[in-house]
Amino acid sequence: MARDHGFHPVRIRQVVQETADACTYVLDAPFPYQAGQFLTFKVCGTLRSYSMSSSPDTDAELMTTVKRVPGGLVSNWMLDHLAAGDLVEVTRPAGVFCLRETTAPLVAFCGGSGITPILSLVKSALATTRRRVRVLTADRDADSVIFASALAELAGRYPGRFEVRHHLDVPNGFVTAAEVRAFAGDDRDADFYVCGPTPFMDLVEHALLAWGAGPEQILIERFTPAADSPADRAPADEEQGGTVTIVLGGKRHAVPRHPGETLLESARRAGLAPPFSCEAGNCATCIAQVTEGQARMRANNALEEDEIAEGWVLTCQGEPTTADITVVYED
Ligand SMILES: Cc1cc2nc3c(=O)[nH]c(=O)nc-3n(C[C@H](O)[C@H](O)[C@H](O)COP(=O)(O)OP(=O)(O)OC[C@H]3O[C@@H](n4cnc5c(N)ncnc54)[C@H](O)[C@@H]3O)c2cc1C
Ligand code: FES
Repeated sequence: MARDHGFHPVRIRQVVQETADACTYVLDAPFPYQAGQFLTFKVCGTLRSYSMSSSPDTDAELMTTVKRVPGGLVSNWMLDHLAAGDLVEVTRPAGVFCLRETTAPLVAFCGGSGITPILSLVKSALATTRRRVRVLTADRDADSVIFASALAELAGRYPGRFEVRHHLDVPNGFVTAAEVRAFAGDDRDADFYVCGPTPFMDLVEHALLAWGAGPEQILIERFTPAADSPADRAPADEEQGGTVTIVLGGKRHAVPRHPGETLLESARRAGLAPPFSCEAGNCATCIAQVTEGQARMRANNALEEDEIAEGWVLTCQGEPTTADITVVYED
């Protein structure tokens, strides 16, 4: 049975001002979800993803938290215009930045709005497991820290199991590799969750790898494309030929296959306007289903294994591996 990847109107029940630059939207959205997942919003025809700050295990309501990006189209519009009672269009929850079945400690590093999925994960890990949980947040100054009181409340409720440390850039400079290593401490077997601005995430990832963490221990949620993506392209072979058939809005369009081109690029070359947002494999906005042939994704930070098994593909990352391929976008 195909998953529902379409947009649904949901009502905003409440808007909570978290800091001068960040709001939480409490949504009347009865969707099942996992801690760490996100919704994609369609706002003024533009698509953007926002992670849940709520936990399905501890919160009765589904909440997303949005931080203003200077000059940003959607974050500013949402913060300046949306109010309780408004309708917004969202997808069902998606994403793979979720808890794993393990008893190992959870150690998280987050910067700015990166706290959003981390708070969701932390609340679920504390409520449903016996794992130790530690979070290092990095923010410009004390006024910029989102969820300071929620984190303090969790630390009070789970003494000995939960620790939060706040790093402030203005008095202390940016987080350093030494600070990352020190915070990782002796938790050699931990799962490390990382979410924040790209330079912060790169520093944390490199510091953890140099400290001895295995790549499989580090889970990263990218809000913006990585500077060096996409890596791992298939070698171009001009002799391959073949046809990419794209079904969009119920109409079939056949495009000659160009080796090394993604399905999204092929669709655009055909003059089509399929949905997309991040173009980095993070948001699932560009999802379509392969009904004939096969594709492999350069990166996938959004689709779960069972969705891939059903033929779903991120078209911004999917390169055909068969000469002929048919992909169907949901209406
Ligand atoms: C899976 C996923 C989950 C996300 N979850 C959240 C969340 O929980 N809360 C949240 O606030 N945001 C989240 N984001 C980021 C969000 O989707 C938007 O990218 C962000 O709000 C900026 O959109 P915009 O339209 O305001 O800015 P745009 O108009 O797209 O961008 C304006 C400028 O800002 C830069 N920029 C874009 N995003 C950021 C950013 N996050 N930080 C710094 N510079 C940026 C762009 O490169 C561009 O130069 C998430 C993104 C993804 C892919
Ligand atoms: S556009 Fe975001 S995953 Fe493809």
